[in-house]
Order: sequence, then structure tokens, then C-alpha cells
Amino acid sequence: MAPSEPKLLLFGGKGGVGKTTCSAAVAVATAAGGMRTLHITSDLAPSLSDIYGINIGDTPTSVTENLDAMEISQERIAATWKEKFGPDFVHILSHILDMDGMEQNGRLDLLDYIGTAPALREETLLDLIVEMALQGRYGRIIWDTAPAGETLNLLYMPRLMRDHLRAGAKVYEAVDRLAGAVSGKRSLAGIMQEWVVRSEGIAAFLRERTLFFLVANPEALVVNQVQRLMATLRQIGFTVRGMIINRVAVADGSPFLERMEQGQKPYMDRLLALSEGLAVARVDLTLEEIRGVGPLGAIGRGLTRELGLAGR
Ligand SMILES: Nc1ncnc2c1ncn2[C@@H]1O[C@H](COP(=O)(O)OP(=O)(O)OP(=O)(O)O)[C@@H](O)[C@H]1O
Ligand SMILES: [Mg+2]
Repeated sequence: MAPSEPKLLLFGGKGGVGKTTCSAAVAVATAAGGMRTLHITSDLAPSLSDIYGINIGDTPTSVTENLDAMEISQERIAATWKEKFGPDFVHILSHILDMDGMEQNGRLDLLDYIGTAPALREETLLDLIVEMALQGRYGRIIWDTAPAGETLNLLYMPRLMRDHLRAGAKVYEAVDRLAGAVSGKRSLAGIMQEWVVRSEGIAAFLRERTLFFLVANPEALVVNQVQRLMATLRQIGFTVRGMIINRVAVADGSPFLERMEQGQKPYMDRLLALSEGLAVARVDLTLEEIRGVGPLGAIGRGLTRELGLAGR
């Protein structure tokens, strides 16, 4: 696979619109097409175990041929943080402990400053996902996200982190000067620079090798949020690749579905206008719950075709 090929497919949208269902459908169809696929969720109230009907752990768990799934837990994120950033923090603290020359106030300011680094949890979660995507184990990673607000926060994080670290350069340089006498230690500014590079790498991966699919339903609250979401995503530099309009009522002669279809019509029109120029796929409202590899695969085949993801 060429390095510029998309690796990560992100499914986002308002709570309850069908992110888990649609991402699972795409995951099953992608795996059935012969690509090694990993389905992950960053939702801390995950439902991959429910949708596949097997117990999915916080390490890759086999679902079916070519498909593994994983529910990223808080514990996993905490352990990753400790492993990746812990040594740096210990190092930073040892700098501070060595600084007899630094007055008490300065020491407290510095600790406060490091402590307020925006959302180390989010940064670690992204780091974990991007690292899995970069490993050669899977051709494609399908990412079921938490409801929109939380995910926007997450996607914004590398930029905040980078700005925070850059803005802190003066603080770190001052600490380095004070700690200059301590030999054999990495400079704080150097550690911060490594973090900046890491954040920039994550941001670049999300921008260049991630496809963002919005899941929506033809109803007022969802459409209004889609409109705001698309504007915000544009602002923070994300391009939406496609839209899945889920739970579309298709009249079959019953008065109930007939009325529902009529009711959905203005919202369908607005969604279609909003998604102009994007790949658009529709999923019908079903009477039975969509669970298990068979039903998911049937929906996934249509979805991958309509979204231009089949046969890649
Ligand atoms: N096309 C459909 N027809 C009927 N029911 C559906 C359809 N798609 C999803 N559902 C049902 O709607 C509910 C919400 O779907 P799902 O869990 O996939 O949404 P979600 O966006 O992941 O929700 P959350 O934001 O809570 O994670 C589930 O009970 C699911 O079975
Ligand atoms: Mg979900």
C-alpha cells in the first residue's frame, strides 16, 4: 500500500445516529473483501461486543476471518500514557527536584503549567490509534467514535497540544538554564520539542491518511447538528469524505412508513444539499435490530460500494 493511501476510516456524528452500526457494517464488508481489518471504538461506553455478539476486549479480538475488533479502555490509555510519556515526566520532575536555585513560586508555576497541558488522555488515545494504523498488521482500521462533541474535542487536541508546547518554550528554556549545572540530563526544551513533533505527526496522519464519514439521520436535531459539525470540521482543517444517511424510511404501503417518509423528506433534502460533492450512502430503517456478521455484511456491501470503498 502506498504511504499516502487512507488507512483510517473515521465514523462520527451525533449520539445514537448509527455510528457503531454503520462502522461495523463497513468493517465486516471490508474484511470480507479480503483486507485485514481492525474495528476500534474510542467510545468509553462502547457497544462493539453487543453488535458482534461476542466479548470484545481492549486488545484486538478476532470477530471473523480478516476482522478483529477492540474496545479501547481507560486502563489501556492510562497504561499507554505511562509507558510513552511517563519516563519524560519523571525526567521533568527530577529536573525540578534538582533545582535548589528555583524559588518556590516558580516551581509551583511550572508544575501547574505542565499539569494543564491540554488533555494528555486524548493525545495518548490518538497516539495509540495512529500507531496501530502505522503498524503493518492491518490494511485498514475502522474507527467508531464517541458522540460528536467528544470526538471534536479529541480531533482538536493535537493542535492545542502543539500550540501549548510551543507557547511554553520560554518556560522550558528558563528551567533548562536553571538546571544547566546538572550534567547528563536531557533538556526540557528537547523533550518538549519531541512532543511537538509527535503531535504534529498525529495531526498530519489525521489530515492526510484518514477519511472522515459523517453518519446522520433525516430528522431536525441531527440535520442541524450536521450543519454545525461540518462548519467546525472545516474550521479545524478536516475534510469530510462522505455522509451516511441512516434510518431512511421507505414506504411499503403501510400508513406508518408513508407518514414517516413524508416527515423525513425536508430533512433528506437538507442532508443531500449539505453533502453535495461528497460520497453519499443511504441505509434503510429496519424493523429488526442490525446485529451479527451476516446482517452487518449485507448492509456493509451497499455502504462500501456507495462510499467508494469497495475493491480497494
Ligand atoms: N438503519 C437502522 N434501522 C433501524 N435501527 C437502527 C438502524 N441503524 C441503527 N439502528 C439502531 O439504533 C440504535 C443506535 O445505533 P448505534 O448504536 O449504531 O448508534 P451510535 O451512533 O453508535 O450510538 P452512540 O452515539 O450511542 O454510540 C441501535 O439500537 C441500533 O440497533
Ligand atoms: Mg456507538
